[in-house]
Amino acid sequence: MCGIIAHVGDGNAIGPLIEGLENLEYRGYDSAGVAVQNGSGVKVHKCSGQVSELKEELRATPKGNVGIGHTRWSTHGPPTDENAHPHTDTAGDVAVVHNGIIENYERLRRDLEAKGHEFTSDTDTEVIPHLIDHHLGSSTSPEAAFRRAVSDLDGTYAIAALVDGEEAVYATRQGSPLVLGLEDEKWYLASDVPAFLEHTNEVVYLEDEDVVVLEPHEVTITDLDGRQVERAADTVDWDPEETSKGKYDHYMLKEIHNQPTSLSNTIEGRVQDGEVALEEFPDGTFADVRNVQFVACGTSYHAALCGEQLLKEAGVPAQVVRASEYVSTSGPVSEETLVIAVTQSGETADTLGAVRAANAAGATTIAVTNVVGSTAARETDRALYLRAGPEIGVAATKTFSSQSVALALLTQRIAADIPVGTVPESTESLLNTAERLPDDIETVLETSDSDRIAAKYGGSDSYFFIGRDLGYPVALEGALKFKEITYEHAEGFAAGELKHGPLALVTPRTPIFAVFTGEDDEKTLTNAKEARTRGAPIVAVAPEGHPAVQAADAHLEIPDTHPTWASLLANVQLQLVSYHAASHLDRPIDKPRNLAKSVTVE
Ligand code: F6R
Repeated sequence: MCGIIAHVGDGNAIGPLIEGLENLEYRGYDSAGVAVQNGSGVKVHKCSGQVSELKEELRATPKGNVGIGHTRWSTHGPPTDENAHPHTDTAGDVAVVHNGIIENYERLRRDLEAKGHEFTSDTDTEVIPHLIDHHLGSSTSPEAAFRRAVSDLDGTYAIAALVDGEEAVYATRQGSPLVLGLEDEKWYLASDVPAFLEHTNEVVYLEDEDVVVLEPHEVTITDLDGRQVERAADTVDWDPEETSKGKYDHYMLKEIHNQPTSLSNTIEGRVQDGEVALEEFPDGTFADVRNVQFVACGTSYHAALCGEQLLKEAGVPAQVVRASEYVSTSGPVSEETLVIAVTQSGETADTLGAVRAANAAGATTIAVTNVVGSTAARETDRALYLRAGPEIGVAATKTFSSQSVALALLTQRIAADIPVGTVPESTESLLNTAERLPDDIETVLETSDSDRIAAKYGGSDSYFFIGRDLGYPVALEGALKFKEITYEHAEGFAAGELKHGPLALVTPRTPIFAVFTGEDDEKTLTNAKEARTRGAPIVAVAPEGHPAVQAADAHLEIPDTHPTWASLLANVQLQLVSYHAASHLDRPIDKPRNLAKSVTVE
């Protein structure tokens, strides 16, 4: 949460900073700000609201070839102008942007106030420019003052700072992401690659405690003690096109429609001659594993539920734990435990906390993530990448389907290695139909009746989603997506659970979306009928000709395929329903209120 950017080049930094902030807005959009260094002091411009509002403020464009910027998801203090970053010291000579949480800020602030520093915001961040200023008087250089300020901080942070009179950006990270972009003699620093992808795809993923100094003709990376460190540059193979909306009104719709391509990329080369071929995990990789745990949050948790289900079917003991609960509820973890962190961003604080606990307990850890070089990828033993391309819409869509497919393949691989595992009979047909999945999704996208159905049931009191087996995580995901972007009340249930309580909520004003995947559908149909008898309209998400279609009030059709893939096709229909329902309500679909894409606080 929160996005930071810094730029040093030979032109005005404001353009790249604003573009970068627009591309980072998925990390937070409570306020935005920039600061530039232009020979006549550090100039700060900031306001509450989105980057578009900051752009209005910048009509008389400030100039400066060295600058920093920030887009905020509020933690300490409401989204006001005063709490917007960059923050400065009392005289306004030092400006800082920060992503993360400074845990010891209250004590630092008290100490600094006692020394005469004047604070103007509620944020934890504001202590940083005051600390730098405090150390400037007794340090040999601004860089030395920056280092001393950093060593006073406890918590997580990616920080970029300007100091009056210095044509330089000083930056570091501890537990929050920071990536360096290299373009000839122009440098970028950002929380994530899309911030500068239009300019360069040559990146260096910085490590905790790296200190980076950007100057017009030089970049230096050192450790906290000032020793030079070598960091290899990587080339990111994302197309800058992927970070634009293209012909779509929203990133979310673009990303829903991108699924045939993103899934082809996830699958490519990973199924060969009807067998799973994951080069990251050769045969025997999992021979010592005796039980598997998945840790994840939100949508990724729903994908992990699919992974758990598939492993259990193969006879492998498996369990999904909500990452935020892992430390207290993980149960026994040993060297024979494999812990799979499912995280699109690879930066979710709760998931990273669980990974660290699993590593400390001696488990083998894997990250299933979309972001190469992310913290989850670096802190686990191995990574399986989704290859879904950048996802900008705050509501996860294409990454959920890629996670589910990646996990379907990974779980087959694990089951094949573990003596207790038995390869399920349906594996062959699962793998044989995998390559058909992108075409089946294309069919759903071309023929979906979701817009009409979303309009038909608009204005209902609540929206319920039910499913069984792999249809259950899809029901949970359908409800999460619906509430997230429509702000309407929605709940997902295991179909059989309706009659154990939730049925009391069912009325003619609570449509029920029932997912039919081909596993125990007759029971799900009975559950749907029990609700219909109480007046609830039923929308069957099922193949043409399925008995549920006759019994339902409306139908969202999915191609007939293997149950695992049927659940994903049903999910695409539900993504579209949520999208259209939110669109009819005129919601800010890509930036739902109070949310951010990358949740880097616990
Ligand atoms: C919902 C959504 C969130 C994320 C969750 C975990 O649409 O996107 O629920 O799934 O915050 O994020 P990652 O996968 O980045 O760990």
